[in-house]
Amino acid sequence: MPATDTVVILDFGSQYTQLIARRVREAGVYSEIHPCTVTAKDVAALGPKAIILSGGPSSVTDADAPPFDPAVFDLGLPTLCICYGMQLLAHTRPGGAVAASTDREYGRAELTILAEVPLFAGLPRDGAHTVWMSHGDKVTAPPAGYVVAARTKNVDIAALANVEARVYALQFHPEVAHTEDGERILHNFLFAVAGLTPGWSMAGFVETELAALREKVGEDEVVCALSGGVDSTVVAVMLHKAIGRKLHCIFVDNGLLRLGEGEEVAAYLREHFDLNLHYIDAARLFLDRLAGVTDPEVKRKIIGTTFIEVFEAEAAKLPKVKYLAQGTLYPDVIESVSFKGPSAVIKSHHNVGGLPEHMQLALIEPLRELFKDEVRKLAVELGMPDFIIWRHPFPGPGRAIRIIGEVTEERLEILRRTDKIVQNELVASGWYRKVWQGFAVLLPLKTVGVMGDGRTYENVAAIRVVDSLDAMTADWSRLPSELLASMSNRIINEVKGVNRVVFDVSSKPPSTIEWE
Ligand code: XMP
Repeated sequence: MPATDTVVILDFGSQYTQLIARRVREAGVYSEIHPCTVTAKDVAALGPKAIILSGGPSSVTDADAPPFDPAVFDLGLPTLCICYGMQLLAHTRPGGAVAASTDREYGRAELTILAEVPLFAGLPRDGAHTVWMSHGDKVTAPPAGYVVAARTKNVDIAALANVEARVYALQFHPEVAHTEDGERILHNFLFAVAGLTPGWSMAGFVETELAALREKVGEDEVVCALSGGVDSTVVAVMLHKAIGRKLHCIFVDNGLLRLGEGEEVAAYLREHFDLNLHYIDAARLFLDRLAGVTDPEVKRKIIGTTFIEVFEAEAAKLPKVKYLAQGTLYPDVIESVSFKGPSAVIKSHHNVGGLPEHMQLALIEPLRELFKDEVRKLAVELGMPDFIIWRHPFPGPGRAIRIIGEVTEERLEILRRTDKIVQNELVASGWYRKVWQGFAVLLPLKTVGVMGDGRTYENVAAIRVVDSLDAMTADWSRLPSELLASMSNRIINEVKGVNRVVFDVSSKPPSTIEWE
């Protein structure tokens, strides 16, 4: 935890918990999410200046409701209880009561403010405020010492306030964009109620992180796997700034990268930094091992284990290396279904999964406190160019999982050229930055066509372009038909071996973003 005012968010499983953390950070205050299983003593030991209890899908009256230590309310810290958090407050404080509501309420509601409290300072009083609700239970009696600060048509007690204790509760979600004045309410909590000082900024983060990295590494050396994606490149640049040539970057070219991808990033890093870059051309090895393989999971496993083997062999040549640096992000670290215990989620980074156990190196994860959009801000702070910062995500197994069926050099070349056109067209039309990800897929399927006067019998390529916030869910991007026409025309005319192009109109779920 950095030496700046910090807010601890206790997670009761709400889909919005991460959003709360981001909103707090956007206000310039550092925030951390912890599972609701932590005790009041644990929370106190973290030294926060304020606490936020998240919402959650459970009912406080359920036998298997998430565990919670009500002594959190006795810590004397400014506390904001959102949705489920509000019900917990009413359920655990004397005098309060919660009842299961017959009419569950989702979506928009009109809030009327009933009390002049610091949390609602500066909110217009003429008429109702639109807020976003998502709850089943309702608070039916305020705990002793609390006033009812707002209501909606369906909910008589939509906000509770204990001004003296600096504890507030909201039945609605101030963190979602649909709640008018949500930002104002959160700012009021952070600054007017809790009196926090904003101390979280990217420049500050870089300064403290660089010092911490230098201190941690000391005279040892660090190795990192550079993939060409934004996360691993930011990790490399950060560490290079901190420890210079004591960082070794290993770039494994598996022959499955996007056209120009590896070379571009390597060239940039070479040009701008005196980086210890170990470039390993292992394309032949990967392709040989993929020969004849069609099962997607087998492909992924072969690529994963071959990567580890190549990386390890190179790292073994570096005896002074004690650390492995990884681009793990904050969402990978948070236990999203917190109350089910740590075994439920913590994900390992899927490109380099397995490396730490194999190599017995201690981990360095400079991005583990950051969200994806914060990594991009960090990249800007570090002076990195747009072409790296805004690059679409590219999976570790690369084009192997975008060639359905066997991966051969010929098919890799067809996909490479098709994908290049999709990328070029997205960039030229200004759509590249608007979508989450766009790429081509080569199908194991030939169809009949006609070119000039002759019959053709060639491959089908699919175009996959999706909108998403976090890759957990996604929808196909509504690209203009002229753009699709131009992609299709160019692919069929310029790529020998493709005579038909289709556009993927599936959402995730039930489909996934990648085809394999
Ligand atoms: P799916 O296909 O699961 O993809 O909807 C979600 C996101 O993850 C990317 N992806 C991967 N990234 N290694 C990675 O680094 C992988 O093995 C991998 N598989 C999928 C995918 O491109 C999308 O952004």
